Amino acid sequence: MAEATRANFTAADEFLGSTLVGEDPVLDRALAAQRRAGLPDIEVTPLAGKFLNLLVRMSGARRVLEIGTLGGYSTIWLARAVPADGQVVTIEAEQMNADIARKNIDDAGVGEKVDIRVGRAADVLLTLDSLAPFDFVFIDADKESNTLYLDWAARLGRAGTVVVVDNIGRDGEIVNSSSGSSKVQGTRDSMEMLGRDPRFDATALQTVGAKGWDGVAIALLK
Ligand code: DHB
Ligand code: MG
Repeated sequence: MAEATRANFTAADEFLGSTLVGEDPVLDRALAAQRRAGLPDIEVTPLAGKFLNLLVRMSGARRVLEIGTLGGYSTIWLARAVPADGQVVTIEAEQMNADIARKNIDDAGVGEKVDIRVGRAADVLLTLDSLAPFDFVFIDADKESNTLYLDWAARLGRAGTVVVVDNIGRDGEIVNSSSGSSKVQGTRDSMEMLGRDPRFDATALQTVGAKGWDGVAIALLK
């Protein structure tokens, strides 16, 4: 048995990625562009991007809300999954990131499906009523605000909306109730909310891979 090391998680991700996702020059270009611009390498992996893409297609979602665009890598996966008349609204706090994402998304040929809203998500979410209900919500932004974003997902969704929360494992720190990390505390709070709030029915899966030990939660709005 291989040892449970970061290098081996990455090797397994590379095998599975090349086997199940394959070559994708468009996404490679998008990643290269955001690396050149100095964005952090915290976007979803190819396998996780395709996981989101499949979830959108499996749920038949046409209107997707993403909180946390970064350079648009996950946005491209989401936009590819909605039908030609579908839409992805994605919220990004940093204008520079949004500019890179706009170019990446347009270069990927899905620009017409993607509406990037620049601003603090807490402010932008107040403006999206006319676009609701969203069928699918992907929460992948500042972890401190996860509970706020879950509340918005419930308000802007409908019964049957699928909600996905990224980064719920945090190298196992999720169990640490006295963690000094606000990201860990925000993530813990959001998992407790998913467990307690009657609007959601949720589960979570831990993952290992090229991004280390982490995980995703998925929830169905009741
Ligand atoms: C962080 C955020 C992410 O969305 C991610 O996928 C990994 C790490 C972070 O802020 O630490
Ligand atoms: Mg993330």
